[in-house]
Amino acid sequence: MERAYLDYYRERDIIPVHQQTEDRRGHWRRRTALYRGLGLIPAAFRGARVLEVGPGSGDNAQVTASFDPAEYVLLDGNPASIRAINARLDAGDLDRGVCRVVAGDLHNPPPECPAGGFDIVLAEACLHHQQDPRAALLAVAALVADGGTLVLTTSDEVAVLPDLCRRLLRPAIEAAAGGDAEVACELACQIIDPHLRTLPARSRPTRDWVLDTVFHPWLDHWALSIDDAITTLDDSFDFLGSSPSFMTDWRWYKQFADSGERWNDRARAQWAQFHYASVDWRISNPVPVAEGIDTDTLVTACRRLGRLEHQAWHQCSYDALPEILQTLQVIGDALGRLPGTSGTVAAAADARAGLAAVAAGNLSYPFPQFRHWWGRNMQYLALTRRS
Ligand SMILES: C[S@@+](CC[C@H](N)C(=O)[O-])C[C@H]1O[C@@H](n2cnc3c(N)ncnc32)[C@H](O)[C@@H]1O
Repeated sequence: MERAYLDYYRERDIIPVHQQTEDRRGHWRRRTALYRGLGLIPAAFRGARVLEVGPGSGDNAQVTASFDPAEYVLLDGNPASIRAINARLDAGDLDRGVCRVVAGDLHNPPPECPAGGFDIVLAEACLHHQQDPRAALLAVAALVADGGTLVLTTSDEVAVLPDLCRRLLRPAIEAAAGGDAEVACELACQIIDPHLRTLPARSRPTRDWVLDTVFHPWLDHWALSIDDAITTLDDSFDFLGSSPSFMTDWRWYKQFADSGERWNDRARAQWAQFHYASVDWRISNPVPVAEGIDTDTLVTACRRLGRLEHQAWHQCSYDALPEILQTLQVIGDALGRLPGTSGTVAAAADARAGLAAVAAGNLSYPFPQFRHWWGRNMQYLALTRRS
């Protein structure tokens, strides 16, 4: 696989990112609350030129389009996504007078997506797995007009640590399925569904989650952290908002006359104190600040687990199991030194026990603690282009 996301989706002819939209109001409320946290109330979209990069199924586009943009371009490189969005246009769910779908690669945007041509650019869940996530970020950032807003998602090995452990189930699943991709997928759904059911809020069907996480061949050197994104854009963009919302600013409002706002520096400094908490969504309101506590050991060990997972996943083998278990031990110890992590420590121990059992052929290990453990997975960032 050479092109992140696209080659895998195209090979299987899938869009494994549907949202469960039966609860239409819930879907609208979820998106509206997300945008609000990013500093984008519905009026920000009204009359705006909006570009969504990688709209996938178009489920989220339905909400964005309802905020009355003047122009809404949907750019995707997956033929199945182009078909899905065209079907929405044909059905009248998206207004052809406003919305148009464009097939193309975000790295080399087609003429319908001119540089500086959009007031709002949304790039959700389509950057961090690219071959070079920073280059992909710069490519989409170039499409934002002066004073416009870029919304993007970030993710790294800390935020997906439990998913790395779930991906490590694949060699055992493939062995049990005897090379039949559909059987492997069903088996993975049976194992993962009880895990997903522990989430009080979820929006993706189990099969989509499994296809997009357990069987998706991630490229080497993936990851785009909040720090990476802000640093990459520091020359021309300023931090506006995020989900989770980690930035507080108690400067007096009259203090900003001297162009010393430094939004990016503040955001990066504050995220550094909360980064560890992305390891488990259950560390929540209030998240203890990790000031003066070692978080580097956790971050380094998560990156190491990421490399081991990459090797095990691509070789479809447990040759590296001793190192994997040892790294999980280091992670458990590092978590134990951090505030608010008792459930996470228990889950990491269970992940170790379970991975050893699964690698030995026991696919029915119940993961009593681990199945409750989900990372924050993605964080959302909004930044504005300096005019
Ligand atoms: C994981 S899905 C996310 C879909 C949707 N944004 C969401 O958050 O549910 C990634 C999307 O980005 C698209 N994509 C990935 N790489 C791309 C590229 N190089 N050019 C254009 N689209 C791309 C995929 O086809 C897919 O629609």
